[in-house]
Amino acid sequence: MDSSVHLDNTVMQFGDFTAIQKTDLKIESGEFFSFLGPSGCGKTTILNMISGFLDPTQGDVKIGGQSMRGVPANKRPTSMIFQNLALFPLMTVSENIEFGLEVRGVSRSERKKASNRLLELVALEDSGTKKIAELSGGQKQRIAIARALAVEPQVLLLDEPLSALDLKLRQHMRTELKAIQRKTGITFIYITHDQGEALTMSDRVAVMSAGQIQQVADPITLYRDPHTAFVASFVGENNGVSGKIIEVNSAFVTLDCGPLGKLVGRAQGNLSVGQTATLFIRPEHFRLQAEDGMHSLQAEIQEVNFEGAYLTLNANTPANQALSIQLGTHQFSDALKKGAPVSLSYREQDAIVIVGADHV
Ligand SMILES: Nc1ncnc2c1ncn2[C@@H]1O[C@H](COP(=O)(O)OP(=O)(O)O)[C@@H](O)[C@H]1O
Ligand SMILES: [Mg+2]
Repeated sequence: MDSSVHLDNTVMQFGDFTAIQKTDLKIESGEFFSFLGPSGCGKTTILNMISGFLDPTQGDVKIGGQSMRGVPANKRPTSMIFQNLALFPLMTVSENIEFGLEVRGVSRSERKKASNRLLELVALEDSGTKKIAELSGGQKQRIAIARALAVEPQVLLLDEPLSALDLKLRQHMRTELKAIQRKTGITFIYITHDQGEALTMSDRVAVMSAGQIQQVADPITLYRDPHTAFVASFVGENNGVSGKIIEVNSAFVTLDCGPLGKLVGRAQGNLSVGQTATLFIRPEHFRLQAEDGMHSLQAEIQEVNFEGAYLTLNANTPANQALSIQLGTHQFSDALKKGAPVSLSYREQDAIVIVGADHV
C-alpha cells in the first residue's frame, strides 16, 4: 500500500502571518520521518495540515498519491498522538484502545481481537482491564500508541509524544517507538524540538526554522554536512567562529578570523573571496596535540568538567569567544586547569565553512 505523504507546494497562513512558507516535500511510504525545530517554528501546523485539522492556504497534501483537499480529518488514513496523549481517564485500557473502532461500528468480538493484538504489540498483554490512572507514564504512552493504531491508519502522526516523560523513560520509549514502527511498517511522522529524539529514531529529518525547512537528510548527513548555519548549530553542539573568506581552493576555504588568525575548513556550497562566513568545529573534533596538516587556535581554559567517559573544557579565545571542547578522559592532565593557555587543533576536513555570520 502506498502510504507516502506529499506536501505539494503547501503554504499555511494565519491572517497576515505565514506560519509555513511554501514547502514541497515527499515522505516515503513506511518511513520514520521527523520534523525537528524550536518551539513555534511550525511543526504542529504541518501535522495539522496532514491530519486535516487545518486546510492549507495554498497547495495540497497528498496521502498515497491522493489529494486530501476537502477530505475531513475523520475520513483521512491518519491517526494522531497528541503531546498530552488525551486518553479517556474513566475508561479501561481496552475501552480506550477500542474506542475508535466502536465509533466506526466494528463488532464487539472484532474489537476485542484488535485490542488484544495491540496490547501484545505494545507489550501490555495483561493490562486490558486496568484503569488509565493505574498506569505509569510509559504505559500510558504505549496505550496511546495502541489506541492510535487501532483504526489501522496508513500514517501515524506524533506530536512531541515523549515530552511529558522523565529522561530515562523518554530514552527507553525511543527504542520502543522505533521497534513498533518497524513491526507495523506504517509511515510515522514525528515532531519534536529534541534533536536526540529525532536523530536516534528517524530515517530522515527535516530541520525547520521560522516556518521554513532548512534541510532534509538522514541523521548522519545532517550532523556531518549541515547546509545552513542554523542546522550546524541546532543539530548537535557546535563552535562557530566568524571571519572573512580570503582564499578559495577547490573544496577548502581560508578565513581571516581576526585575532584567531587564518583558519581553514571544508566549503559548504559555492563560496567566494570577500564573503563573511562562519567556520564550524564540533567539540569532539578538537585535539590538544597538533599533527601534520592540522590547524590550531589559541584559547584560555575557563572550566574543566569530568563527565566519566570524556572531559569537556570551556575555553575563551583572545576575541573573548566561548568554545566548547570534548576530549577523551585519557587526555586529562594537571595542565588542564582554569586560566591555563591551550592550543586547540583540528583537521580541516572536520571543519565546515558556511556563508553568513548569524547562527543560533
Ligand atoms: N490557529 C492559529 N492562529 C494563529 N497563529 C497560529 C495558529 N496556530 C499556530 N499559530 C502560530 O504559528 C506558529 C507555529 O506554531 P506551531 O505550529 O504550533 O509551532 P510548533 O509546533 O513548532 O511549536 C506560531 O507562531 C504560532 O503562534
Ligand atoms: Mg507544537
